[in-house]
Amino acid sequence: KIYRASTTAPVNIAVIKYWGKRDVTLNLPTNSSLSVTLSQSDLRTHTTASCSSTFTSDTLHLNSAPQDITGARLQACLRALRSLRAAHEASNPSLPPLSTLPLRLASRNNFPTAAGLASSAAGFAALVRAIADLYELPSSPTELSLIARQGSGSACRSLFGGYVAWNAGTATDGSDSSAELVAEAAHWPDMRAAILVASAKKKAVSSTAGMQATVKTSSLFPHRAETVVPARMAAMRAAIAGRDFAAFADLTMKDSNSFHAVCLDTTPPIFYMSDVSRAAVRVVEGINAAAAADGITRPVAAYTFDAGPNAVVYYLAEDEARVAGAFKALLGSVEGWETARGAVVQAADV
Ligand code: DP6
Repeated sequence: KIYRASTTAPVNIAVIKYWGKRDVTLNLPTNSSLSVTLSQSDLRTHTTASCSSTFTSDTLHLNSAPQDITGARLQACLRALRSLRAAHEASNPSLPPLSTLPLRLASRNNFPTAAGLASSAAGFAALVRAIADLYELPSSPTELSLIARQGSGSACRSLFGGYVAWNAGTATDGSDSSAELVAEAAHWPDMRAAILVASAKKKAVSSTAGMQATVKTSSLFPHRAETVVPARMAAMRAAIAGRDFAAFADLTMKDSNSFHAVCLDTTPPIFYMSDVSRAAVRVVEGINAAAAADGITRPVAAYTFDAGPNAVVYYLAEDEARVAGAFKALLGSVEGWETARGAVVQAADV
């Protein structure tokens, strides 16, 4: 007999960035972060988890290619899920003993892997939920986020739709470093996100390596982690609660720039943004200046960049023509840009 469960998890894009670990083994962050889940987009990982006594060993395929499964991160997730299943079986003797069976995991991304499009986030979130479903675990998304976090930090935020905070926590065992729903997508239904792909190539410096180098060498970093981000987390929660796009946009752009500034302040410096990325920043500045000239008293677009050159631009539905239209017109003049599947993807599961 083969037991099987399938699920999908969406990409999330942080507006207050996670960058830096206080514990590398448990994957605990130096600061809290906050993201918007792109649930309506086709940027998802689809994962099927199965287990059977007829399988010989644990296996994982990504986009049909067999993957190394000996990595400590993946093993930590599998161990945690198996031990929850074992406890579940112990308290429900009628359940079949799945916790000891070999697992077969098959994942598929419909977007470029490791191109700064948060593929590890959707990937580990889908993997953890697929196995949790297979094991019929009674765990809440916040409980599962503790496990997904050990796979990849940003993955803990992809277990929810809408606006999600990852609270850094203070416990040395990581038990309070989990994700929490800040607001449902439906709270701010006119939020939109456009993803602009500057390069679908694999990034030069992985987030894991990059953030450890920053923690070690950047003198700007402690100021960001201890002072700047805590204030911004509070301000961003308030901006979302009040559906205040001006504050949301200002904080989003400032925090992206602060994150790339500590990357530049790393020795040797890390450059994730390219000339093409900087051109996108100027396009957004131009869109906002044009809106101001038309008497609109708030920014209408906000950019953010992760550990790669691609831009995500947040805007409101009412400004769609102004933002998407301007981007389309201007993209032609910025060499190297293509929109992801022509996508103007919605940032919310409305
Ligand atoms: C820039 O979650 O990929 O996207 O925990 O080492 O797997 P690991 O790092 P990862 O880092 C994401 C960094 C970021 C910002 C963010 O998503 O908050």
